[in-house]
Amino acid sequence: VELTKGFQLRDARPVDCPALTTIVRTSSAYAGPYRVMVAPLAIDVAYLAANPTRVCADDQDVAVGFASLLLPGRGDAGEAGLDYMFVDDRWQRRGIGRALLADVVAIGERLGVRRIHIVSHPPAEPFYLSVGAVHVGEVAPAGRITWTRPLLRLDMT
Ligand SMILES: CC(C)(COP(=O)(O)OP(=O)(O)OC[C@H]1O[C@@H](n2cnc3c(N)ncnc32)[C@H](O)[C@@H]1OP(=O)(O)O)[C@@H](O)C(=O)NCCC(=O)NCCS
Repeated sequence: VELTKGFQLRDARPVDCPALTTIVRTSSAYAGPYRVMVAPLAIDVAYLAANPTRVCADDQDVAVGFASLLLPGRGDAGEAGLDYMFVDDRWQRRGIGRALLADVVAIGERLGVRRIHIVSHPPAEPFYLSVGAVHVGEVAPAGRITWTRPLLRLDMT
């Protein structure tokens, strides 16, 4: 997957934490009733240490999107969960999400992951379907998340 000129994929660093947290909390895909899900979330140094996290950075090295894996995630050995998958509102629909997802998939593969489970934000499902994920079910509302979410699966071939 090729990225637009000036952007690069790299590991997330402690210095990225405020930008990543802002991307999550300001995402317009989580406006209105969905805001309660992202409002308390914060990406901190402990999170980065525990979860493989890759960012897409612009030509000033500022993060404009990121993706991370939960290891182990849902399911059995060799299976992971996609945790965060966000692109800043201003930079969506330019292929950054696709590039980031391919990048964390490759990292998972090197760690022996063969399947990634994705609990999708409902409006993001077309994105995951477009990159080869398969809809396998629904996740019921729980806690502050009062809506049903699609469950998808991405198998490495
Ligand atoms: C989901 C998200 C990460 C996708 O990132 P992106 O950089 O915009 O996606 P890409 O440009 O790589 O899109 C790849 C393909 O996915 C599909 N796609 C992406 N966004 C879509 C949308 N809103 N509606 C329909 N299809 C979409 C398209 O097929 C697209 O290819 P195309 O632009 O050539 O048609 C981004 O929209 C986002 O951050 N959303 C808000 C946060 C969120 O909901 N994250 C998911 C949490 S589970």
